[in-house]
Amino acid sequence: MTASGKADLVIVANRLPVDRVDNPDGTPGWRRSPGGLVSALEPVLRANDGAWIGWPGGTEDDLEPFVEDGMSLVPVHLTAQEIEEFYEGFSNGTLWPLYHDVVAKPEFHREWWDAYVTVNERFAAKAAEVAAKDATVWVHDYQLQLVPQLLRELRPDLRIGFYLHIPFPPGELFQQLPWRRQILEGLLGADVVGFQLAGGAQNFIRLVRQRVGHKTHRDLVYLPDERTVRAAAYPISIDASGFEELARSKAVGERAAEIRRALGNPSKLFLGVDRLDYTKGILARLRAYSELIADGELDVEDAVFVQVATPSRERVEQYIVIREEIEQLVGRVNGDLGRIGRPAISYLHSSYPREEMAALYRAADIMVVTPYRDGMNLVAKEYIACRYDGDGALVLSEFAGAANELRQAWLVNPYDINGMKQALLDANRSTVKERTKRMKAMRKTVVENDVKAWADSFLQELSRVRESHGKPLRPARGS
Ligand code: G6P
Repeated sequence: MTASGKADLVIVANRLPVDRVDNPDGTPGWRRSPGGLVSALEPVLRANDGAWIGWPGGTEDDLEPFVEDGMSLVPVHLTAQEIEEFYEGFSNGTLWPLYHDVVAKPEFHREWWDAYVTVNERFAAKAAEVAAKDATVWVHDYQLQLVPQLLRELRPDLRIGFYLHIPFPPGELFQQLPWRRQILEGLLGADVVGFQLAGGAQNFIRLVRQRVGHKTHRDLVYLPDERTVRAAAYPISIDASGFEELARSKAVGERAAEIRRALGNPSKLFLGVDRLDYTKGILARLRAYSELIADGELDVEDAVFVQVATPSRERVEQYIVIREEIEQLVGRVNGDLGRIGRPAISYLHSSYPREEMAALYRAADIMVVTPYRDGMNLVAKEYIACRYDGDGALVLSEFAGAANELRQAWLVNPYDINGMKQALLDANRSTVKERTKRMKAMRKTVVENDVKAWADSFLQELSRVRESHGKPLRPARGS
């Protein structure tokens, strides 16, 4: 940040990287926020010395900008009603299910939309205030799709990028949205609109042509005001070397051994790590696993499934329902199939620091990631980064963005329970030689395409598009 309190790089995301919590002694404290967006962007903010604008989570207070753990953070206040209508409502009751293949039914309410507009205006105004002249503002995710256009109206000098962390749906689904045109126009306020996969970018370009009527050519949209917008895929990643370093540390190694001991030193440890979300396919994977035990293919005496489910969006109806379903299944499976001191599934409804996650990754023989739809899924990449020993197996859903890059995983269709059972068995019975071959290839992908490479390629593209304003731009090669 500059001396005047303005920043040359501003990250705008619904959540700050830290969440306000109450310490046991009643004083307020900060905890790392959940989800892939924060784990990817935190190193980007640190490397660029920028400012991060976002909602500080569970607090009623209207907070001043502050520095936490070396990061400049600018809070945006949401009222209780806005949390209900903008965050739980339009963001997570309308857009989230709609963009994830309608895995759950999206609800459309006009009051939710009104709150979405109001809160997006507030974020845009805050970004206009914090950004230095000609700064770069990078807006993130589905909660803030109107910000690029609103911000451009306030500050035409800025370079504006937008990145969508979740899938961008096909036209057939997107068109259900009563406010589809406003969302497309909101996004077109950016110079570059980034997606996880090429398919999302193509869906967007097609919709812009059909619904807004702009001319498009490959990955470019030509606006009537001479501006050009590029819409392309930039698959997100993680701080791979940071995770590896953590996994290599003595403390994490010891903790991994301790975890295995506490579980009774099983010969096979299966692991699932997710936000507790109905898109993640947690129920389906636990069902597949428990059927393998019931069938006698796995034995609770030497295999255990550890499922970490991080609390998420706990007041949204569909999240309450999925939590009940998962907890009922875990209870039933452990009641029917467990033995004393040997539950079939060890279920943890909690969030853990990175060190504990790295220890779990190191301890796990088979990582099971089976979402019905997922933008990328960074947990899969974190597991790979932590397996510096070259061992460990990844069972991965074809419907996670990560499946595009991690082709050597045991790929599964989470809707096909028998197929998942077979993949779990195949991974379980694989030889060290086979696992190492697959892991080595996946490690190369994750290490070479880390989060720094992701941020650099997006930000470089943003300067290129912006610099060429007024001049004709050519589509990117290969688009
Ligand atoms: C996903 C989304 C993020 C979101 C995170 C956690 O990763 O892409 O935008 O912040 O989940 O969800 P929450 O609702 O707790 O912010």
